[in-house]
Amino acid sequence: MFETLKPAPGDKILALIAAYREDTRPDKIDLGVGVYRDDKGATPVLRAVKEAEKRLWIEQDSKAYLGLLGDVGFNEAMVGLLFGATTVTERVRAVQAPGGSGALRILGELIARANKDATVWLSDPTWPNHGPVMINAGLKTKTYPYFDAASASVRFDAMVEALKQAGPGDVVLLHGCCHNPTGANLTIDQWQVLADLAVERGFLPFIDIAYQGFGDGLEEDAAGLRLMAGRVPEMLVAASCSKNFGLYRDRVGCAMLMGASAEQANASLSQLTSVTRGSYSMPPDHGAAAVRMILTDPALKAAWCKELDEMRNRMLSLRQGLADALRRGSNSDKYDFVAEHRGMFSLMGTTSDQVRRLREEFGIYMVDDGRINIAGLPEDRVEYFAKALLKVCGD
Ligand SMILES: Cc1ncc(COP(=O)(O)O)c(C=O)c1O
Repeated sequence: MFETLKPAPGDKILALIAAYREDTRPDKIDLGVGVYRDDKGATPVLRAVKEAEKRLWIEQDSKAYLGLLGDVGFNEAMVGLLFGATTVTERVRAVQAPGGSGALRILGELIARANKDATVWLSDPTWPNHGPVMINAGLKTKTYPYFDAASASVRFDAMVEALKQAGPGDVVLLHGCCHNPTGANLTIDQWQVLADLAVERGFLPFIDIAYQGFGDGLEEDAAGLRLMAGRVPEMLVAASCSKNFGLYRDRVGCAMLMGASAEQANASLSQLTSVTRGSYSMPPDHGAAAVRMILTDPALKAAWCKELDEMRNRMLSLRQGLADALRRGSNSDKYDFVAEHRGMFSLMGTTSDQVRRLREEFGIYMVDDGRINIAGLPEDRVEYFAKALLKVCGD
């Protein structure tokens, strides 16, 4: 049977990881792979997570199935973390999912069950997995303009113009914060415009939030999502704990839906658990149980918030340092956007040829589209990176 299969195209980021690993230059820099790195270049297990895992090891007395919803305490805590204290949560239902990707996929399948002809609008550009996940869920995709390369900011007027074409059969996927790959984000006023547009046009907002706490803070990063939730009748949210809890490989995420009424939300939830039952059945427990322990224990939560602050402040200070070095080196404000962007990523505006030169001549690894992971930049290499970038860009 398998003779019919041709090799699938390779994943560019995985190829980049392999090339970086094989590079023997001791001073190479990895700005490609999308994981947080501390000042030692490590991606450690968070202290709050270690402590929760220790308690879990002592307290957990069974590995029996938990059920289709996963850890219900985790789901409740995640709804609180995302939506804050608001009555709309009476219409919100949640299912633990294997990572943000798993949440995106099962919500995609829920959309397909509700409307098999639905189209999901994706930002141009977006996280490369959005398209495949939605298509594999049986949906069609379209794109809306998002990023202006010349100013490295959001093309908001063009985005709104495009979304005026979206209607009741459409779903608009928005990055909750820390847009991947661009680093350029919506202001709260722009969220307001989009919420009004969703109500007027009748499209369904679908918010993917994978970096809550990495931008301006836990509450600040959820502000757009909360504004939208307060305005629209229905909404979907895919949340990931991979980055803000550092639980990448444990696969922890949460799929949330807000219905027009509690009854509709309950019916949709039963369809969502029927989706999971027909695929992986139940999500993995361990990481979600650790997150539940952290979010429901005030001391552990405070410890986690402190670690999250450390991660965010490190990225903000690297952003400022790099913007300053690029300003000095180029004698221009062309790269000031680096300090204004939020989250782990920024699109630097480099061509694939310039990215290749950075790799070959300077041992600097970046994704082909010019995306950098700011957390991958060691403090003492900021100047080196800035000089190399300006050199290959001729600035
Ligand atoms: C925008 C975005 N959404 C979702 C995810 C999914 O993360 P995971 O499935 O690892 O939780 C990522 C991960 O890089 C992401 O960048």
